[in-house]
Amino acid sequence: MLTIAVSKGRIFEEALPLLSEAGIQPTDDPKTSRKLILDTTRGDVKLVIIRATDVPTFVEYGAADLGIAGKDVLLEHGAESLYEPLDLKIAGCRLMTAMHKDKPNISGRVRVATKYVKTARLYFASKGIQAEIIKLYGSMELAPLVGLADCIVDLVDTGNTLKANDLEPRELITEISSRLVVNKAAMKMKHQAIQTLINQFEITLAKR
Ligand code: ATP
Ligand code: PRP
Repeated sequence: MLTIAVSKGRIFEEALPLLSEAGIQPTDDPKTSRKLILDTTRGDVKLVIIRATDVPTFVEYGAADLGIAGKDVLLEHGAESLYEPLDLKIAGCRLMTAMHKDKPNISGRVRVATKYVKTARLYFASKGIQAEIIKLYGSMELAPLVGLADCIVDLVDTGNTLKANDLEPRELITEISSRLVVNKAAMKMKHQAIQTLINQFEITLAKR
């Protein structure tokens, strides 16, 4: 039996065609079902539906053999406890700094609001900028508008969310896409099944 951890919403939607090509289709629709463990059309594969930020934790502890998680989440979690064999090239976006459109670029000390505390700290340290990081769990865009922070670190795709809030992207921290992650023990114990799945994903990705 293989268990794959995946989050509802964007990642799930974009992962469905990949899973489907490997013969894995959930027998319940996660949009309407309240079930957290979904059977699939493959008797040997189950999906567990969790929050995006919890995927690395479930995989690290072996509660799921595999998972699909954004690189943003993996950077924040720390990747050394997991294997990351494949870039699935889904849910693509960029992790960026952003500021009010009328504000000049950072000089000196800066206050940064983000849910990516660890990544932001590393980024500003690498630039030699002294940053006070304020942890938020969402709606980061609000922080510069109400004087909570000078700058935010957040995901940008179309840029519409920033624009709607009079912010603009400034520095690219890193490109983001979702990755397949694998529990280290499972990679040994269930090597053949996992490697077959990785190969199937690779074949589908190569056709894109
Ligand atoms: P949680 O439920 O844990 O708070 P979330 O609400 O951020 O997570 P999603 O919005 O579904 O969950 O995002 C999941 C992943 O999708 C992110 O970790 C990121 O890798 C990617 N992502 C987020 N926003 C975008 C976007 N606007 N465009 C493309 N990919 C995105
Ligand atoms: C994500 C991210 C940004 C937005 C960027 O939010 O946190 O706010 O997308 O996308 P854009 O550049 O295309 O506007 P999401 O839509 O996932 O909402 P949430 O963080 O509140 O879940």
